[in-house]
Amino acid sequence: MNAIDTVAWFVYLLSAVMFVIGLHFMNSPKTARRGNQISAVGMVIAIIMAFVHLFVTGYRSNIAIILLLLGIAIGAVAGVVSAKKVKMTDMPQLVSIFNTVGGGAAALVALNDILTPAKAPGLVVLITAGLGVVIGSVTFTGSLVAAGKLQGVKFLRKLTLPGKGFLNVLFIVLTIASFVMLCVQPGQRLLWAVLTTVFALVYGLVFVIPIGGADMPVVISVLNACTGTAVAMSGLAIDNVALIVAGALVGAAGATLSILMAQAMNRPLHSVLAGGFGGASNASANDDGPEGTMKETTADDVAVQLVYAQKVIFVPGFGLAQAQAQRELADLGELLKEHGVEVSYAIHPVAGRMPGHMNVLLAEANVPYDELVDLDDINPQFPSANVALVVGANDVTNPAARRPGTPVSGMPILDVDQAQHVVVMKRGRGRGYAGIENELYFEDNTQMLFGDAKAGLQAVIAAVKELLA
Ligand code: TAP
Repeated sequence: MNAIDTVAWFVYLLSAVMFVIGLHFMNSPKTARRGNQISAVGMVIAIIMAFVHLFVTGYRSNIAIILLLLGIAIGAVAGVVSAKKVKMTDMPQLVSIFNTVGGGAAALVALNDILTPAKAPGLVVLITAGLGVVIGSVTFTGSLVAAGKLQGVKFLRKLTLPGKGFLNVLFIVLTIASFVMLCVQPGQRLLWAVLTTVFALVYGLVFVIPIGGADMPVVISVLNACTGTAVAMSGLAIDNVALIVAGALVGAAGATLSILMAQAMNRPLHSVLAGGFGGASNASANDDGPEGTMKETTADDVAVQLVYAQKVIFVPGFGLAQAQAQRELADLGELLKEHGVEVSYAIHPVAGRMPGHMNVLLAEANVPYDELVDLDDINPQFPSANVALVVGANDVTNPAARRPGTPVSGMPILDVDQAQHVVVMKRGRGRGYAGIENELYFEDNTQMLFGDAKAGLQAVIAAVKELLA
């Protein structure tokens, strides 16, 4: 190892340490921003080092340098603009697009390592780079379809595959077979590398196309784990510590997240990946839902209940994010607190469409962290709450989860029905993610305030202000 390799190794190690420290800081919303910054600085250092290393070790072609700088500039601008512009509810699509480019880049790095050396690479490189090609290619096409489905691209939403099980097995077998041939016949590596790439790209399509849009958040998390693994494999192939560590961290974090998301929905991961939860497919067509009628209320009446309460629990869900009404909810909380009402926010682990969705949303509206209370801690508090105000949450409050035989059975829920009074804000009779009616809406102590969450909260705030004036 010469001097520049040694320097590069230590700098990559420093970046890797910064990634780990950054991840550690992401454990708490209070330090998450700092964690993100530390990891980003680690990544910038790694990129600069890779650039310097290439330059010093004799890779001085002007065209190559210009292309690299151009790539860095385009990537940086695209990253900053998309991260700043994208709406919080569209974040899963953005993550999916990042997975697409991450997986694609890892596959290209690995392909380069297999194809460019004049002599056939050794078995270890063929295995690691080959795996980088396979996983990266599957991630590339799979993530592209996942992003398109979540974005509601009509053509993708309607796309179905006849014999999806057969196609899945066929392309897994073809991909593995050509990968094995690549390892045992390195002399023919151009042919086998191209076939491996093509089959893996097609497998990415046949894997994701049949999965319903509603299951996409978990699929995206799985593909995120694949991106990390592909990057780590490419790192092993080109012997780059920063890539290995960053890839392993993303791979492990993505896998852990996928498992946690499936657990919080109380479903095995394989059943999520096979589809079947959420959407019309799951709600039986002749399911008329619970018996009874819903009682409607008005913003004025809700304001009276809130102002005369001692303890109020807000229950945010996907509809709050959809309506972008987090600031209004925070304003209502502040108004009530100034009036002496105890206010807390019940946070269900899978409320919304991505992990930590409600935490991020409410942090954006500057809700104090100590008012966000997790499921296990808030549930015992519902019986003592005078009012539970449910804003755009549905499945995570459905008492049907407590008995077997329903699509949400076994999912831990917020015990909203045990509050003394429940007010549910939603636009109409739209069902939640699981596609079933919510029994909570028909309970004696529940009233419905129909309308968009933002407009509804604004009306309630105005009525509260009038009462307190
Ligand atoms: P959902 O069950 O999706 O229900 C959201 C409700 O919000 C709907 O019933 C909808 O009813 C209402 N809504 C939509 N737009 C609104 C608006 N502008 N104003 C007011 N209300 C609006 O939400 P949830 O309770 O948060 O549950 C999340 C679900 O997603 C769970 O089933 C969970 O398993 C699943 N999931 C979550 C994740 C993660 S990691 N968070 C990942 C995958 C799946 P209307 O149409 O009548 O308004």
